[in-house]
Amino acid sequence: RQRVLSGIQPTADSYHLGNYLGAVRQWVDLQDDYDAYYFIPDLHAITVRQDPKELRERVFRGCAQLLALGVDPARSVLFVQSHVPEHAELAWVLGCITGYGEAARMTQFKDKSSKQGTDGTTVGLFTYPVLMAADILLYRPHLVPVGEDQRQHLELTRDLAMRFNSRYKKTFVVPEGKILEGSAKIYDLQDPTAKMSKSGENPKGIVNLLDDPKVSAKRIRSAVTDSDGDIRFDREMKPGVSNLLTIQSAFTGRPVADIVADYQAAGAGYGALKTDTADALEAFVTPLRGRFDEYMSDRAELERILADGADRARSVAGPVLSQVYQAVGFTAPR
Ligand code: TYM
Repeated sequence: RQRVLSGIQPTADSYHLGNYLGAVRQWVDLQDDYDAYYFIPDLHAITVRQDPKELRERVFRGCAQLLALGVDPARSVLFVQSHVPEHAELAWVLGCITGYGEAARMTQFKDKSSKQGTDGTTVGLFTYPVLMAADILLYRPHLVPVGEDQRQHLELTRDLAMRFNSRYKKTFVVPEGKILEGSAKIYDLQDPTAKMSKSGENPKGIVNLLDDPKVSAKRIRSAVTDSDGDIRFDREMKPGVSNLLTIQSAFTGRPVADIVADYQAAGAGYGALKTDTADALEAFVTPLRGRFDEYMSDRAELERILADGADRARSVAGPVLSQVYQAVGFTAPR
């Protein structure tokens, strides 16, 4: 079977709607047909400052959320990045075939570093995409399901895989990104031209999966739209309405065109669009919290799942790293 791999950072207490609709929803679906490797990139998390106690807790919360969302440890390997030292080891080698200019062109780095200033920007933040390439290439996956904002990082990963293969020895699979058509980018509810993000300015713009479902439904109902009153999908002219249509479509499984056609036939307004979208969201998040609490209440079980995941991940990553070391000319210790 082919492999699929992806990761999600433990940098907030709750994942948000964009994380789920852009990425984790795909992870859950892909488990049926692929050997799946899903992990929590704690090494990536510390590229910006984290409180150690909070980070520790958020790794477990991340794990419990993934389980509650449907990642099944019987079918998928679920692990924590720092438990598998091969990630950092391969990142060093890949860093040595990455151009400085190539890394400096990463738009996510440019955005994040411009907010932090030169001294707030760490070298780790700069090499973040190289570590991400190592995460991926170690497992030779064919597919990497992510949201739109990771597209450029995946391009770099593919370039590094091809470069290594041609410079040294064919070692890596060149992976494809799997970026959903409709929901690859969920927008901020209060500023629907910006991506929904943990670091968003206004908390009302974000739906956290673990928030009180009533609060989340209310956030949808108070989303910014526009004043022409017409329900149609138009990302440029009607970003707020388009975002709600995307969210509703993702939760109901109905194509955006069908939803729009029904509203137009009924002469419905934004009130109906918001209420229906809020209801669809509420139905999804309501049972989630209970499942999350259940997983969180058994820390030993979470630790067991992650230890098993780390063992299984290392059994793949170890041999691949050995091949890399051999290909570049390192000697094996006796
Ligand atoms: P992270 O933790 O920021 O986000 C996790 C996933 O959620 C997607 N996402 C979104 N999708 C749609 N709309 C949004 N508003 C939205 N916001 C976030 C992201 O695209 C991502 O798929 N660098 C990665 C973590 C990572 C990784 C990897 C991913 C580290 N190593 C290897 C894949 C493979 C990141 O920061 O994702």
